[in-house]
Amino acid sequence: MRGNERRGRASLSGLIPWVAAWAVLTTLGSWTQFTLWHGADHLDGPLASEIGRAIASLIVVPTQAFSVAMMIVFGTRLDGSALAITLSVGLGWACVLGTIWFANWIRARMGRAFARRGRASLDGAPDRASSLTPMMASRRAFLLDGPLAIGGAAGAMVGAHSVVVEPFDLRIERYKIPVRNLPAGLCGLRLVQISDTHLGPHVPPEFVERVVRESIQLRPDVYLLTGDYVHRGTACNQRAAELFAPLVATGRPVIGVLGNHDWFGDGRDMSARLVRVGVRMIDNGRVFIDARTRALREDVPPEGVCVAGLGDFGHDVMDVDAALAGVPQEMVRIVLQHQPDAVETAAFVKGPRMDVVFAGHTHGGQIRLPLIGAPVTLSRYGQKYATGLAQGPRCPVVVSRGIGMSFLPVRIGVRPEIVEVTLVGA
Ligand SMILES: [Fe+2]
Repeated sequence: MRGNERRGRASLSGLIPWVAAWAVLTTLGSWTQFTLWHGADHLDGPLASEIGRAIASLIVVPTQAFSVAMMIVFGTRLDGSALAITLSVGLGWACVLGTIWFANWIRARMGRAFARRGRASLDGAPDRASSLTPMMASRRAFLLDGPLAIGGAAGAMVGAHSVVVEPFDLRIERYKIPVRNLPAGLCGLRLVQISDTHLGPHVPPEFVERVVRESIQLRPDVYLLTGDYVHRGTACNQRAAELFAPLVATGRPVIGVLGNHDWFGDGRDMSARLVRVGVRMIDNGRVFIDARTRALREDVPPEGVCVAGLGDFGHDVMDVDAALAGVPQEMVRIVLQHQPDAVETAAFVKGPRMDVVFAGHTHGGQIRLPLIGAPVTLSRYGQKYATGLAQGPRCPVVVSRGIGMSFLPVRIGVRPEIVEVTLVGA
């Protein structure tokens, strides 16, 4: 009886490394699914290579579970193809579990065969083997199962941390950016940027409420919102907009542009709802901050800065000339654009002068590994615009690693952040 229990426990611990390996492969596959969805021309990193994409396509079937299950559970999709994918996913997972069970069955059979051979040799040389064989067996078990079990447990802990802890471990990142021709009245102007809240299956409203509360405590002069208010669809649009109402209630300007995920649903609807709660949406438009009052103005103030916004690069029209039309040549221009890659386009490089750009979109890659950085970034410029303060072709680019998560509900080494920028004279 006790022997059976021990065997049961041994086969259970034998499952740990297999499950851990399966989890790692599934995670990797889900992440590299990005590369299959977005195309190589929009990505960079080792997993976006041809080989990486080929590996992803091999392990991609079981990974569909994440996205499709989420879509079905949250009611954003329930059609024939979704059900077909779910069935194939179920079949894929059954195959994986069946393979694990079969591998363990083979292990157990081999173990019994080894034990029989050990007993046979004991019968031939009882004195010598009686002390050595159990030790050899336990050493073999330690060498085989010990590291695998430790690796599996460590993998499970990292996995749990990346899903449960790190995505909600909010940080505040501060930058000081020197700007030429900054009016004396706006020296020390503090801008707080909130990006990529992605309200939806991976991000609950309570977390966005906390982000808004902490942003208010920073007491900045202006709030900047750089898109991706919802994860997908339109069901969360109203709630996503209402979450920013407390920012508007502070009386400080709250200025925003849309991101690509807002357009995955209905960008116009998202924008209209934000406008209704008091957010000034400026896709391909601009407003001004008065140097005397630090208030928002629609017309050009005698002294102040311009805050211009651009339509999402890729999912909307991005009209740089329209956004900056009529802005005095010497006036400081702060630009909001969801996707940082836009700053490398001819429209930016050859267009009107800009002094600082605020962007999001890349989420810091969501997974950053020591020495390697982010294996996949949603940018064709690799690590350059993954996160932080980058130097674009014409001006500094602040890239927020955002609040929410895009496809995989994980963050590893990339905590969510509120960005606070202080403008100083150059
Ligand atoms: Fe995003």
